[in-house]
Amino acid sequence: MDIIKGRRSIRSFQDKEIPREHLKTIVEAGIWAPSGSNIQPWEFILIDDSTLIKKIKLLSPGLYGVPKALVILCVNKKRSEKAGRLGESLAIMDISMAAQNMMLAAYSLGIGSCPIASFNKKALRELLDIPEHVDPVLMISLGYPTEWPTPPRRRPLEEVVHVNEYGKHFGR
Ligand SMILES: Cc1cc2nc3c(=O)[nH]c(=O)nc-3n(C[C@H](O)[C@H](O)[C@H](O)COP(=O)(O)O)c2cc1C
Repeated sequence: MDIIKGRRSIRSFQDKEIPREHLKTIVEAGIWAPSGSNIQPWEFILIDDSTLIKKIKLLSPGLYGVPKALVILCVNKKRSEKAGRLGESLAIMDISMAAQNMMLAAYSLGIGSCPIASFNKKALRELLDIPEHVDPVLMISLGYPTEWPTPPRRRPLEEVVHVNEYGKHFGR
């Protein structure tokens, strides 16, 4: 719970390199996520080249600060379509689980992260030579934070959780 609650979306990073070993651990956390029918429809593109990161920043309005690394989480449609008509939505769930694994692993190593959905897919595809059947859906920025922000408010458990029947909540 400390790791789950302590992770924050980080939008300002120190100018300090992340050891490759730690980056490897973070992406490894991704491949251990659950996936529908264990299809593992993902491809992860790890970027730790600062020139490339600057170029990606230019096409990503949702990317704040200058991270030391990025992971681009993509759906490989040749894999996801094996799940039939549910394939597309299952793949998004799978990618999301991999993303959370990576962000929690990063936090456990003192590394900040932020999920980023706001970027120009077409421009990114061209920049990184991503093939047509591979769809970049989410980015994760990585770096040592300049600070850990105070957590944004969560909706209370008593409001979000319904016990045994919709509308029946935990006692306050
Ligand atoms: C699917 C998804 C997309 C997001 N896209 C962006 C984004 O483009 N840019 C950004 O700065 N934060 C983005 N966020 C981060 C959220 O703003 C953040 O998770 C939320 O405010 C809660 O803060 P916390 O992560 O520190 O708990 C995204 C989060 C999710 C789950």
